[in-house]
Amino acid sequence: MCGIVGYVGNKPVLDILLDGLEQLEYRGYDSSGIAVQCKDKINVYKAVGKLKALREELASHAYEISKSTVGIGHIRWATHGAPTVVNAHPHTCNCGKLVLVHNGIIENYKELKAKLEAEGCVFKSQTDTETVAHLVAQKYALTHDLTKAVALAVKEIEGAFALEIMHNDEPNKLVITKRNAPLVIGVAPDEYYAASDIPAFIKHTNKAIYLSDDQIATLTADSLEIIDKNGCKVEPKIELLPWEPVALSKMGYKHFMLKEIHEQPDVIRNILSDKLKSPEENVILDEVKLTKETLRNLNRIQVIACGTSLHAAMIGKYIIEDLCGIPVDVEASSEYIYRKTVTDAHTLVIGVSQSGETADTLTAIKQSKARGSHILIITNRPDSAMAREADSLLSVNAGIEVSVAATKSYIAQLTSFYLLALYMAEIKGTYPVSELTNFKHEMLMLPQKIEQILSNMENIRECARKYSATRDFIYIARGINYPTALEGALKLKEISYINATGYPAGELKHGPIAMLDESMPVLSILMKGAVYEKLLSNSEEAKARNARMIALTNSQDKKLDELFDYIIRVPDVAEYLSPIIAIVPLQLIAYYIAEFLGKDVDQPRNLAKSVTVE
Ligand code: AGP
Repeated sequence: MCGIVGYVGNKPVLDILLDGLEQLEYRGYDSSGIAVQCKDKINVYKAVGKLKALREELASHAYEISKSTVGIGHIRWATHGAPTVVNAHPHTCNCGKLVLVHNGIIENYKELKAKLEAEGCVFKSQTDTETVAHLVAQKYALTHDLTKAVALAVKEIEGAFALEIMHNDEPNKLVITKRNAPLVIGVAPDEYYAASDIPAFIKHTNKAIYLSDDQIATLTADSLEIIDKNGCKVEPKIELLPWEPVALSKMGYKHFMLKEIHEQPDVIRNILSDKLKSPEENVILDEVKLTKETLRNLNRIQVIACGTSLHAAMIGKYIIEDLCGIPVDVEASSEYIYRKTVTDAHTLVIGVSQSGETADTLTAIKQSKARGSHILIITNRPDSAMAREADSLLSVNAGIEVSVAATKSYIAQLTSFYLLALYMAEIKGTYPVSELTNFKHEMLMLPQKIEQILSNMENIRECARKYSATRDFIYIARGINYPTALEGALKLKEISYINATGYPAGELKHGPIAMLDESMPVLSILMKGAVYEKLLSNSEEAKARNARMIALTNSQDKKLDELFDYIIRVPDVAEYLSPIIAIVPLQLIAYYIAEFLGKDVDQPRNLAKSVTVE
């Protein structure tokens, strides 16, 4: 899950590559590098750390690069080998004439490396990628044609890759190819861009060609040729991107995460304005193709996702089972793909993903599609690889999310699950119409309620300050808010590195209670409804073990004042919609704790926004 970018044209390449990499920084940020054609040789520059380090490294080379108009760049999230200069891309062959960048994982790199070493290749790095540089160079020695050499080499490679390759003997040319990793070509007069994602070139062109797996494109400033894996010419299909060049600005907020938390009321408004006009009208989901007939034939639903999207899916299960009476299984994609899952034409498979390119979820989707299931994708990226696999699409429209910690996309996924459940209940007639109307009425009130929370954050900030020195944090909840506890804990651990865990409160006494003492904060997500009293009893049990008790609640109950050391109150809300309200203070607690601890909120260590490796 790295980012790659390439350019061939007549403009100075340096800024194009650096700007492109900056837009791809969400994919990784532990090291970076570029290779540019300088007169009669290709120069490589690399640095460890964020892109800033590469910019600093390049400052003293600006003159020698200033006339270059062809190059490739890479931003890395280390998989094989630590983040060092040697392991940073671009990688080169023995003689240094062939240079390449790679996103993905070469699964058979150990076998290839052993063979190449035996044949005289000298490896400098610990990466899987370097094998490809040597392999293509070997084929080049046979063919003296970069495109043919790439075509021969990829036949021997297993795994996922997006590759951009240059060779000094074929100057001013890029050869690119992909398998199970994203790669898109930007098209403009007398120039081509090639990148892992559109933001890398959208400010230069909105015309793009999505490369399919195993196609190879050969690009020069004035020519583009695409061949398939049999060497047959492919007619390029140029698409007009529905994208505006967006200036990614923090709009005065200290971090993107805080800005994105504040965008949440508008995200919900935006989704509802299209899909839920009024409580009395049916939900409109234009791109969901679930007819009465399809729904009648369904035995069950499987939802597959990772991380925050998995938590949204868990809440989706509660609501779909309740409103539609269809059994729903939720599973982490990484587990789903390595067992014999029972999926068939009577199973609706829902893939949930902010990015639409998470490798595990994409593989899971492809597996269930091959077994004949209807595939519904809930994503923030309608142009993504996952969306392209969809029979039905639910585009969550949260806008670009920059912060690695997902916030507004989670709220958008939850809103989409509620709409989907309503939509299916309306088609199937499984719920009283008057209750569905109430449900929709309550949904329309959500943005204002979140605004109320956001306009009164001092109490939440103070709570974060009070507990920021803790090493561990426990979140408890029951019922529909159990996934909220998991998501609150995930937010805290990913940006503050505090060991935070979410539990279904009834499970505390089956083991975790042993950890409780006067040093342990326990945050109880105590929303009014069916499990309120039960959760209160579980909170009493924790209090009896001297835990530092915090309540997040919509209850005005006075007896909470005795039980809890700290109380965060949120606006009243129906139980089934409470996850949307409850998550907002938890996002803010995580944000402020990380801020107090001086952590890198938007780009936490070891993480990347798009996880394109299994
Ligand atoms: C969320 O804060 C995380 N950064 C991460 O868990 C993320 O939700 C997960 O990697 C799944 O990504 P996706 O939604 O793009 O598939």
